Amino acid sequence: MSKTIVVTGATSGLGLALITSLKTAGFKPILTGRSASKVSALGAELDVPGYQLDVSDPRSIRTVTAHITRDHGPVYGLINNAGIWLEGDFETYTPEAIQTVIDTNTTGTILMTHALLPDMLTRGTGVVINTVSTGALYARKLISVYAASKWAIRGFTGCLELECAPKGVRVMGFYPGKIDTNMYETAGIERNLEVAMSPQQAAAMVLVMLRDENMIWSQVSGRSIRDYL
Ligand SMILES: NC(=O)c1ccc[n+]([C@@H]2O[C@H](COP(=O)([O-])OP(=O)(O)OC[C@H]3O[C@@H](n4cnc5c(N)ncnc54)[C@H](OP(=O)(O)O)[C@@H]3O)[C@@H](O)[C@H]2O)c1
Repeated sequence: MSKTIVVTGATSGLGLALITSLKTAGFKPILTGRSASKVSALGAELDVPGYQLDVSDPRSIRTVTAHITRDHGPVYGLINNAGIWLEGDFETYTPEAIQTVIDTNTTGTILMTHALLPDMLTRGTGVVINTVSTGALYARKLISVYAASKWAIRGFTGCLELECAPKGVRVMGFYPGKIDTNMYETAGIERNLEVAMSPQQAAAMVLVMLRDENMIWSQVSGRSIRDYL
């Protein structure tokens, strides 16, 4: 039977590319996104189950993850991909914009994991892949809050990796540089994306991380899962 993989923020960019790549690779992808109309249109077009899920809303996370499990049984994999960009001098950010970035990129990832990981641990199998960013590997000006949101997930991912690997569940972070998606434009930022990965290339890398059940692709290197036992 195909393994069920839940992808957040799957209505564009990397998330959408992941849905098609996962399907082609024989997984059962579950498309989730905050826009109901995009979810239903893309779910129908790609012939995959779709659910409206706003990761910045803890109630949406609780309700929708319960519905997905009820409708599709155990979830093998979770790809925490939903994310938003914020760029500019720190003092120009509104408190609301700061809160939204943290709620989406950080708390959303943590609460999604909190909702779906326990069942993986009980079954002794599963995978969580968090889309982080090179922005969580070094400091850069003008992205203080986006970086904070992703550095937090780097720490979260690393700690959970160590906690869960001995229990058979792989928790990994994906650290891409620029990907040619709408992320910057949606945030009102002009960015030259001529030299950037395509969403399909980034999805192919995530697929490698997902598929090899003996490996944990930890930050920028790999480690055998047997090394944790
Ligand atoms: N693009 C890059 O250069 C780059 C580099 C490093 C890391 N990343 C990371 O890669 C991930 C994917 O981004 P992308 O580049 O593919 O950008 P994107 O095309 O803008 O896709 C982001 C997705 O997240 C969704 N989303 C935003 N807020 C949400 C919420 N509250 N609940 C659920 N879904 C939400 C968006 O939904 P809507 O369609 O409704 O807007 C969209 O589907 C993000 O975590 C980003 O930080 C991107």
